[in-house]
Amino acid sequence: MSLPQTVQRCERCGNEHAEGASSIECTACGGLLELVHRVTVDAAALKARFDARLSRVLQPDVPPVSPERSGVWRYRELVLPSATDAEIVSHPEGNTPLLVRRVVSDWTGVDGLLMKHEGHNPTGSFKDRGMTAAVTQARRIGARAVACASTGNTSASLAAYAALAGLPALVIVPKGQVAMGKLAQTLAYGARTLLVDGDFDTTLALLRAAGESLGLYLVNSVNAFRIEGQKAIAFELLHQLAWDPPDWIVLPAGNLGNTAALGKALVEAKRIGLIGRLPRIAAVQAAGAAPFATSFANRFRTHEPVRAETVATAIRIGDPASWSRGVRAIRDTDGVVLAVTDDEILEAKAVVDAAGAGCEPGSAAAVAGVRSLIRGGTINPGDRVVAILTGHILKDPAILLDYHAAPGRPHSRANVPVEIPASLAAVEAELVRLVRR
Ligand code: F0G
Repeated sequence: MSLPQTVQRCERCGNEHAEGASSIECTACGGLLELVHRVTVDAAALKARFDARLSRVLQPDVPPVSPERSGVWRYRELVLPSATDAEIVSHPEGNTPLLVRRVVSDWTGVDGLLMKHEGHNPTGSFKDRGMTAAVTQARRIGARAVACASTGNTSASLAAYAALAGLPALVIVPKGQVAMGKLAQTLAYGARTLLVDGDFDTTLALLRAAGESLGLYLVNSVNAFRIEGQKAIAFELLHQLAWDPPDWIVLPAGNLGNTAALGKALVEAKRIGLIGRLPRIAAVQAAGAAPFATSFANRFRTHEPVRAETVATAIRIGDPASWSRGVRAIRDTDGVVLAVTDDEILEAKAVVDAAGAGCEPGSAAAVAGVRSLIRGGTINPGDRVVAILTGHILKDPAILLDYHAAPGRPHSRANVPVEIPASLAAVEAELVRLVRR
């Protein structure tokens, strides 16, 4: 009998489960699962396949919804090799740009800082990469409904992909703590949305307790298939760099799903031979929601959840669910974990925004983290560094207006709007001031 192409393996007890098993936890011990794929193609052949698919993205003969157009399914041998085109639920997603902005490089102190802008995904965040894989799997196993707890981006993404798949979606979010753009999207895409008095950690605990009752398939990043899709950020990034890895990849960290996915992707890419050495991961938390950074400072000897508070609501998480996977990603890549203050996040965001790139507050933590690591001497100015911008600027419009247009003393980089009378003279006076600047 031939070996299966993919199995689900428990990260805690090592028990293996079939790829199509519907429980998102190990049924033997309750541990988190990870997918293990048998890759039978060598690195050179894989690269040739990835190149061929990339070259077909703009070809008119490729159907509009073909997985060939997706920046996740381009790497399907490493994501979910057994999924057929007909099974795949794809927007398509990925194909996000690498940006360089002089002012951001100067502000951080890194020559030519690269920003992988995941806000260019269809629902405006990196979550779409994991979601295409998880909703594909939900359909393959015949789930009756899909569900997640969220700080906003996962719920928006799930709502959109569930609509695409024709599956009912249930989301639970902390009331009053989700940025406006994300909540608005989630409602508009049609997910049944429950607002709970409590924080993200409470909502996730509630949903996990509800378990798999009534055929509900949980697609938070504890779900192994989400992690597989999210790995494609790393594959696409390395592909864009012609498989010449950067020295550092810096990303914001909340529930640690993305940190885990990046670590798993890099280790696999190295093992297969797609890259010759591992980049180091730097995971950046908000100071008010930094249990992982605190634990790292103790060499991961401690694990203390906190009550989270930060302006970056995306990463307002005090008890990260993918903790053990996050630790592994940092250890495997000789990575670091650090915390940055809300003031640093807001300043980094203002710099990225004013450069015309723009991102949401949680994403700006990565850029603030780069500057902090340069100042502390961990990253050198000449290192090749990529910061992952995880979400779009319009996810959180309220924070933008608060920064730039709220009454009172303006922020240091605020672009305060000017009220003028409806007269040509007033416009001309402003124009003169503008060009003299
Ligand atoms: N950046 C953004 C914009 C996010 O929305 C999140 C997580 C993160 C970074 C952190 O990623 O949790 O994998 O460490 N948002 C989740 C959500 C929690 O529900 O949308 P992580």
